[in-house]
Amino acid sequence: MRLILTTSRGIEDLASAEVRSLLEEIGVSFRVEEKPLGVEGRVLAEVGEAFYTDEKGRKRELSVVTYLNERSRLLHRVIVEIASGRFEGIGEDEPEVALGKIGDFVASLPVERFVKVSESFAVRSFRKGEHRITSVDIAKTVGKAIFERLERFGKPKVNLDHPAVIFRAELIGEVFFLGIDTTGDSSLHKRPWRVYDHPAHLKASIANALIELAKPDGGSFIDPFCGSGTIPIELALRGYEGRITCLEKYRKHLRGAKMNALSAGVYNKIEFVLGDATKLSEYVESVDFAVSNLPYGLKIGRKSMIPGLYSEFFSELARVLEKRGVFITTEKRAIEKAMEENGFEIRHHRLIGHGGLMVHTYVIE
Ligand SMILES: C[S@@+](CC[C@H](N)C(=O)[O-])C[C@H]1O[C@@H](n2cnc3c(N)ncnc32)[C@H](O)[C@@H]1O
Repeated sequence: MRLILTTSRGIEDLASAEVRSLLEEIGVSFRVEEKPLGVEGRVLAEVGEAFYTDEKGRKRELSVVTYLNERSRLLHRVIVEIASGRFEGIGEDEPEVALGKIGDFVASLPVERFVKVSESFAVRSFRKGEHRITSVDIAKTVGKAIFERLERFGKPKVNLDHPAVIFRAELIGEVFFLGIDTTGDSSLHKRPWRVYDHPAHLKASIANALIELAKPDGGSFIDPFCGSGTIPIELALRGYEGRITCLEKYRKHLRGAKMNALSAGVYNKIEFVLGDATKLSEYVESVDFAVSNLPYGLKIGRKSMIPGLYSEFFSELARVLEKRGVFITTEKRAIEKAMEENGFEIRHHRLIGHGGLMVHTYVIE
């Protein structure tokens, strides 16, 4: 079975490492490839059959797909690949020609192996790159091709709102693929614990990527701009044993973070502090790890405040940080200046896709 796993752009290596370690745990044979056919935000996993022994000692098949959906912290979707291919020049093709190629390709696939004719289905589509067709065109064309193929076996049912089976059709640059989306309509990064919706919250998958980059070893940990608590909550859910602090300036967001933590069942694992990160040393004498997504210009109103805020914060951080910090922001110049002025060394930099932007991420010591 070939699985197309989706995640944020820029964290494919961390998602692959997670998938490898999850698959090793269940002793299945596998091969994992980052960015298959050069597509960003995707990981391919070729997986053999997996088994477990039940309480009566019988050998049972284990669903790798369910296992990944339930256990992964970095993936967005788990899609069983039906087929994929590269369509040279599809970006320049006239709409009818491009849709004709996609329609013919899908019509040739044995989709009947993946859906019972009695089950309702829908096609969800995604498109990225330069094309003369839209994602709606793709969904319609693919839906029609699947419907006509299934008609050979009975009376197919389409249900766009509550389908039993979701086909996912993606055209990214010249690469097209069709699969069965086993995750459903709500991406895995939308955590069920989120009852307070912060306007600038971080995706839970990216929060976990930042935690992976920080490699916290059980020492004390703080998110000094914790908003609705995504990073501390995800860390606590990983069973982290060290002290975790969530610092936030605004009462409303801190209350939201507490509500989220309660809903996640980790309220008692986190210390919530109402306070100003530019006075960090008033709240903590020393801390081993600091991980945060910093306020960006767009999100806190006046962009001109950012350089001053970052410089005051990093000067405070320099007084308390013992081991490592990981920070994500759009404000490259302001953060690099503030880190440098305060004697931090950048150990690693990468860009991560978040909310349509590529955002700068730094590991500092
Ligand atoms: C980008 S958001 C963090 C979102 C958070 N990671 C989440 O997932 O909900 C930045 C947060 O920093 C807070 N903030 C702004 N200035 C602050 C300061 N001086 N001290 C502490 N928090 C501050 C904002 O209220 C906002 O909640």
